[in-house]
Amino acid sequence: MDLKNIRETYKFNSLDEQEISDNPFTQFTKWFEAYRKLEVKDSNAMAIATVDAQGIPQNRIVLLKEIRSEGLVFFTNYDSDKGEQLRLNPNISALFFWREQERQVRITGKVRRIEKEESIEYFRTRPHLSKIGAAASNQSKHIESRAALEAKFNAFNEQYPDGTDVPMPSKWGGYIIAPELFEFWQGREGRLHDRLLFSKDKNSWNISRIQP
Ligand SMILES: Cc1cc2nc3c(=O)[nH]c(=O)nc-3n(C[C@H](O)[C@H](O)[C@H](O)COP(=O)(O)O)c2cc1C
Repeated sequence: MDLKNIRETYKFNSLDEQEISDNPFTQFTKWFEAYRKLEVKDSNAMAIATVDAQGIPQNRIVLLKEIRSEGLVFFTNYDSDKGEQLRLNPNISALFFWREQERQVRITGKVRRIEKEESIEYFRTRPHLSKIGAAASNQSKHIESRAALEAKFNAFNEQYPDGTDVPMPSKWGGYIIAPELFEFWQGREGRLHDRLLFSKDKNSWNISRIQP
């Protein structure tokens, strides 16, 4: 398989200091909404990287579920590997790749848990089987077989049949990423991509350009 000749030309868009918003959340929302309009499956997917106790970066996809004025919210299992890693080290990096628009957004910041009531409110809106799955799975922990996993799932499903209220497991909930840096990357011709950085300086944001 020859991958060396796979090459794209980036030419659809540009991003400059005049057009970019003063506020990175406004800019993020603008790009995100533009991407959502394309109706790409899992358009709210983002890769989040955490660092484990050995200093090894770990990465996985989660779904962005809310954009707040102070950060980006996702939901997961607090006892999962990522949850353990964030407990020890709240630094996180989130990455969005919006291929159709030749865009990438990179965010670094720190997480904190959202209020339990807020997680419960969201948990209630999930489809029944997703609630059961969240309750049945000890995310990231080993299990001897698929059959053992399904047995746990079925036991929860019997305990809480469709139509009944599945309580949110205490191990489950949301994190909010409070960004300290945003990079907006727009692919350009000749690899002269636009890269504009927002770095947080107390309560304001400094905008600067970096080379591609
Ligand atoms: C498209 C997609 C969306 C996902 N969304 C979530 C999510 O919102 N929350 C979550 O905990 N895991 C989600 N996952 C699974 C994670 O990528 C990951 O396998 C899981 O969270 C366990 O990660 P950990 O063992 O590093 O903690 C998603 C995976 C994919 C491919």
